[in-house]
Amino acid sequence: MKHSAQALVGLLLPSLIFARVYPRSNTTELGLLATGNVDLGDWADAYAKAQSLVAKMTNEEKISVITAGSVESAGWKALNFKDSAQGPQGYEYATGFGMTSALAQTWDKAAIYEQFKAIGDEFYGKGFQVANGPSTQPFGRTPYSGRLAEGLGQDAYLNGVATGLGTKAFVDAGVISGGKHFLLNEQETNRALRGDKQPYSAVVDDKALHETYLWPFYDAIKAGMGSVMCAMNKVNGSLSCENSDLLNKLLKTELGFPGQVQPDVSAQATPFGSANGGLDYGSSRIWGTQTLIQGIASGNLSQARLDDMAIRNIIPYYKSNLANGKQPPLAQQTDYVDVRANHSKIVRSVGAASIVLLKNINNALPLSKPRTMAIFGNSAGPATAGPNYQFTVDGSPSTYNGHLAGGAGSGMTSFPYLITPQHALTSRAAEDGTMIRWILNNTYTNTIPSLPTPPGLPPLLSGGTALHLDIPPYATGAEVCLVFINAFAGEGGDRTELRNTEQDALITTVASHCPNTIVVINTIGTRLVESWIENPNVTAVLYGMPLGQESGNSIVDVLYGAVNPSGRLTHTLAKNEGDYPGICTELVCNFVEGNLVDYKYFDSANVEPRFEFGFGLSYTTFSYSEVTITTTKPEALASKYATGKVGVGGRTDLWDEVASASVTVTNNGTVDGAEVVQLYISYPEEAAQPVRVLRGFEKITLPVGGQGSVDFGLKRRDLSFWDVEAQEWAVAKGTYMLSVGASSRDLRVSGTLVV
Ligand SMILES: *[C@@H]1O[C@H](CO)[C@@H](O)[C@H](O)[C@H]1NC(C)=O
Ligand SMILES: *[C@@H]1O[C@H](CO)[C@@H](O)[C@H](O)[C@H]1NC(C)=O
Ligand SMILES: *[C@@H]1O[C@H](CO)[C@@H](O)[C@H](O)[C@H]1NC(C)=O
Ligand SMILES: *[C@@H]1O[C@H](CO)[C@@H](O)[C@H](O)[C@H]1NC(C)=O
Ligand SMILES: *[C@@H]1O[C@H](CO)[C@@H](O)[C@H](O)[C@H]1NC(C)=O
Ligand SMILES: *[C@@H]1O[C@H](CO)[C@@H](O)[C@H](O)[C@H]1NC(C)=O
Ligand SMILES: *[C@@H]1O[C@H](CO)[C@@H](O)[C@H](O)[C@H]1NC(C)=O
Repeated sequence: MKHSAQALVGLLLPSLIFARVYPRSNTTELGLLATGNVDLGDWADAYAKAQSLVAKMTNEEKISVITAGSVESAGWKALNFKDSAQGPQGYEYATGFGMTSALAQTWDKAAIYEQFKAIGDEFYGKGFQVANGPSTQPFGRTPYSGRLAEGLGQDAYLNGVATGLGTKAFVDAGVISGGKHFLLNEQETNRALRGDKQPYSAVVDDKALHETYLWPFYDAIKAGMGSVMCAMNKVNGSLSCENSDLLNKLLKTELGFPGQVQPDVSAQATPFGSANGGLDYGSSRIWGTQTLIQGIASGNLSQARLDDMAIRNIIPYYKSNLANGKQPPLAQQTDYVDVRANHSKIVRSVGAASIVLLKNINNALPLSKPRTMAIFGNSAGPATAGPNYQFTVDGSPSTYNGHLAGGAGSGMTSFPYLITPQHALTSRAAEDGTMIRWILNNTYTNTIPSLPTPPGLPPLLSGGTALHLDIPPYATGAEVCLVFINAFAGEGGDRTELRNTEQDALITTVASHCPNTIVVINTIGTRLVESWIENPNVTAVLYGMPLGQESGNSIVDVLYGAVNPSGRLTHTLAKNEGDYPGICTELVCNFVEGNLVDYKYFDSANVEPRFEFGFGLSYTTFSYSEVTITTTKPEALASKYATGKVGVGGRTDLWDEVASASVTVTNNGTVDGAEVVQLYISYPEEAAQPVRVLRGFEKITLPVGGQGSVDFGLKRRDLSFWDVEAQEWAVAKGTYMLSVGASSRDLRVSGTLVV
């Protein structure tokens, strides 16, 4: 959730504001752009413009800039911020995109860019300057985290690529990308300062901090992120938005972030703690003009820091070229400003491309004009009050009573319409001549007894059909049974379960009568399938995240083979809940697993998952050639540590391409399709890495018999580990094992790279 700084004021209790004195940290000065610690590169021009604008302002005017005010004399208009990474939330005549968690499941860089670009265009068209996204984190150290529908996958590399592409797309659309959440905002439970109630404090070792949690922010900042939202939780005992080590030392110095740090709701508590801690934009209640002017007089705040704050608010505006006067004016929520263009096509194609086929036996899929079909479950059809449901940040039920196609809280989708599976399947049935019936209720039992058949006469109808209206006869009488289930959660409430008794019982009941039962899942995160996955009557399973306004069409495209499934899991599906960390209920949350999140844990502990990270079936098959590995820039690896100057996105040489790996992939099956070719690296011991880590992926579409070459360019960063002692990214000497395959556990070919 994100409001303007002014709207925020009412949420803060005055008692908080002067509750504690935060000394100025000795890392405060590090974050000043004027130190020249960061080589601004292609931000230099925007910096010069921002500097000269701020130079014309009085301190009062600078304070106005940092508290969401306009400065008429300087021609500065307050920026308009808006949630979220799925589109301008709450706006009419905007597209109901699929959640970014679905987008990540495409593993398709072009699709990721295309969707984010379309979303960015919608923000721009509605007159917003800052789009609060992408949301790289919550990252998903625990699958119970309530907000994973908004995430981009539980692997730093995948998440980083997607975050970088999303950032670039927003910038290309002409808006400022306001990524979140910085940092270690991994759960909803105890996340926020409320009255006297302190948020949890996250503690993670410095190595995992860099290799898992900061990693995607490197991509974002390199790609041009202009605003970063600091989180509600604490890190190492101090609020994220007042944590100088986090904001000044890491974000603004090590990562070279040149833009503005803005607070999540109620994440700013004190005037000088936040200003000196690195927050650049905040509440006018906390940053009253008098308070800050007096702070400068008494030395609690430096003039240099106030100037830096004002400049940091303005730089991204120039960098995104928002000063050109071309942007449409700010639209109000219900104004008829239609920004949707042809984006519904993107929603449909991305939705289909994101679906993971988990199981497919007896040639259950694709469907081909079934004579009879029965569909079951409340997730197949519409919710009673339409697609746009109640905004809640106070926890959510664990399932959704209707077809789940969007997120909740600040990740909520605003739907202009929603094609449900029932709708899309009905249209298809009409074309194909399929008899279709449904029961859109997970626990339905028909209490009206079947009428007795009078002797010598045909059976009496129990309502326009020869079948008694109930789950068992519908299942028994159908050539194919489709059961729809979901899992729901959102901002403000963590998951309480990873499976659901009512839904699992529905599947088992249907399957006990129907030997061709297909399950379709739409979930906001991990949804376990153990209760029925081995049931031989469950012949196929589709696993999707919330797919947006075209959800039913996307699902039908995959069910009938118009689209060959090519989504891949961005998280591991375990056999047991106990294989994952739970929600932390203490006020100090030690992320003891460090880097061993998701598959990295399963691999290191040798735990067999049900479906591993990167997994997904297709209607065709692919074969892999041997892998060719080359060091393309050996001189760049001569030094152990990255030595480049610090630019926007960290030391510049981290981004040098130093090696490459390539394979040829062949579609040796019987239908056209797309493969996600994945590269995993095992490092020399010194790097102290997980068993293997993802360091490349490409989606390649191949016709039957077609061959294509996939090339992975490896950057210096991809071979680096964080050397805690040296406080630098380092490349270990030794042998790297590079494995290429179809998932994290289906490695087809491998080779070595010696540094
Ligand atoms: C602050 O400075 C002291 C002494 O110079 C140093 O020991 C300490 O590590 C510094 N703290 C931070 C957070 O950099
Ligand atoms: C928090 O403290 C730990 C242990 O002292 C340290 O390794 C880590 O870098 C600190 N994190 C931040 C963000 O300062
Ligand atoms: C400002 O600084 C003075 C001394 O430097 C200190 O006593 C005072 O508490 C500070 N005020 C705030 C609000 O931090
Ligand atoms: C949507 O429209 C844009 C701009 O007119 C065009 O470039 C793009 O190809 C279209 N996309 C689809 C999927 O039709
Ligand atoms: C589902 O069916 C059961 C049993 O027939 C009934 O009690 C329940 O109210 C129905 N639920 C909904 C949401 O209609
Ligand atoms: C599978 O379906 C058949 C009916 O076709 C039924 O007899 C059998 O018990 C079912 N098996 C399971 C495991 O439900
Ligand atoms: C396609 O290649 C895979 C992997 O090499 C192999 O297992 C499969 O049998 C091949 N399929 C066909 C139809 O040749």
